[in-house]
Amino acid sequence: MAGKIPQDFIDDLIARADIVEVIGRRVQLKKAGREFKACCPFHDEKSPSFTVSPGKGFYHCFGCGAHGTAIGFLMEFDHMSFVEAIESLASSMGVEVPRDEGDRPARRYDDLFALTESVTKHWQAQLRASKLATDYLVGRGIDADTARRFGIGFAADGWSEILDKFGKTPEAVERLLAVGLIIRKDNGKHYDRFRERIMFPIRDQRGRCIGFGGRAIGDGEPKYLNSPETVLFHKGRELYGLYEARQALRHIDRLVVVEGYMDVVALARHGIDFATATLGTATTAEHLNLLFRLTDNVLFCFDGDRAGKAAAWRALENALPQIREGRQIRFVFLPEGHDPDSYVNEFGAAAFVAALDGGVALSDFLIGELASQVDMQSVDGKARLAELARPLVNSIPQGVYRELLTASLAESVGLSAARLGKMLQQTAKPSKQSGPKGPLARPGNTAASLKSGQPSVVRRAITLLLNHPAAADKLDIEKLAGLSRPGIDVLQDLIETAQAEPNITTAGLLERWRHDERGRHLGKLAAVEVPDEDEFDAALELAACLDQLALAGRRERIDFLIEKQRVNSLTDDEKSELRQFL
Ligand code: UTP
Ligand code: MN
Repeated sequence: MAGKIPQDFIDDLIARADIVEVIGRRVQLKKAGREFKACCPFHDEKSPSFTVSPGKGFYHCFGCGAHGTAIGFLMEFDHMSFVEAIESLASSMGVEVPRDEGDRPARRYDDLFALTESVTKHWQAQLRASKLATDYLVGRGIDADTARRFGIGFAADGWSEILDKFGKTPEAVERLLAVGLIIRKDNGKHYDRFRERIMFPIRDQRGRCIGFGGRAIGDGEPKYLNSPETVLFHKGRELYGLYEARQALRHIDRLVVVEGYMDVVALARHGIDFATATLGTATTAEHLNLLFRLTDNVLFCFDGDRAGKAAAWRALENALPQIREGRQIRFVFLPEGHDPDSYVNEFGAAAFVAALDGGVALSDFLIGELASQVDMQSVDGKARLAELARPLVNSIPQGVYRELLTASLAESVGLSAARLGKMLQQTAKPSKQSGPKGPLARPGNTAASLKSGQPSVVRRAITLLLNHPAAADKLDIEKLAGLSRPGIDVLQDLIETAQAEPNITTAGLLERWRHDERGRHLGKLAAVEVPDEDEFDAALELAACLDQLALAGRRERIDFLIEKQRVNSLTDDEKSELRQFL
């Protein structure tokens, strides 16, 4: 099987591809100022609202909202898969697509892997030396053996522990930056990203450390800090604990997907070695590909609350195209208030396994959720259910499974399978967003708030950054530290990517986010018209947005401290913090 296409190759390809050429070969384009226009190939129109921007490497239709990069265009217009689109683009540019073959990875990253390995070792040693950290792990029920298996370590408090030890030459500092272990300030100085945190190395399929997750000891913010997207680390592709599971098991007969690092580690501690976690993102199609390469039996285990249900639904949507005969997907919902970590610690391994065995099949979950959104007693409700099911059923590959699901659906709505099959086949109005909204829409998450139409400062900053990636160059990302706002993590990651890849284009940034749930609405923001660079100073505007955010964050913190002082009392640290502010 062909290996993975290196991310840096995709970046280069996108940066060099001429989107006007690519689209112009398929659609007649007319020059209009800096951009090109055409009647939209994705919907019916008389006057051209389809716009191609060579500068951004991006197309957008003001009529139907279709948008994307050259790769996205090929996928939509020529119905290609992601990999096919890359291959087609590369061949039209006369280059061959390189693959990471077997155990011969892209060579240039070897020194980065060596670095992450040394840092892992260093943090493990720090853990052994820290009573605070060992006490914390013991308090959470993790023994030394499990900690060792997962390479768990401790980043001590301090701004330059890693910088001083591993950044002795300018090249070494560049390497630390490249793997996201340090952060650059606008005065050119650097500091450690991870401070006073329990560190979980994230390993790829070959056991190499590609990034870290760090849990604050106590109530530091954010609770978990992850490595940013780097050349080694792409969140939407990796599963925490999968390498360790493969090491522990001779035969993998099932894999369970959970939400957190601690869930994986706690389960392993209790002898349940087949758990793996997504890294703060929704389960992507790529995750599922990876899982189904190893087993036919995949379980998703979520909290029983609303957020858990919503996450399960996203996983379901992404799983449908992967369903084949013989593959089994089940959903397990723990009692409200429990995650796998707390559940296994309270009730033990046997109870957790029993909970897994009581999971619902994908088909039952699907039908049950849809049925709960309509009035199943009425004819209208049943018709509506068929309507809701259509895009979902149609995303399942043709075959026995699809027929079986159609049959169960037919039974639920009281129609013959043949009649329902016909209804499902009628082509719905083209709508990009399949699946039900409303009750299942996720509460207050990034994607939703990016979409909500409220122009927030975060949103404005993201829009500016997407349109002018180079303007990120001198930004002081430290200003965003500790802020919690919807979308702030996306903004931080974008800034870091743009700083790490000075030549990246709008399209390049978007492609980096193709597989990340949180990036779903970035395309729309990239399409927003912002003035050209020579008419205003994007870097200045962006810096102003960051200042505004930092200021608002400070105000909130002050309000919080004052309020806390009023109802409670402040710790010494908080008192001096407040004095400094005031
Ligand atoms: P949870 O908030 O559910 O935490 O985050 P948890 O796993 O129960 O952790 P403990 O038990 O409090 O230690 C689940 C996952 O979401 C991501 C992490 O991957 C985490 O493991 N996350 C969470 C973040 O990336 N950042 C955060 O601030 C919080
Ligand atoms: Mn937990």
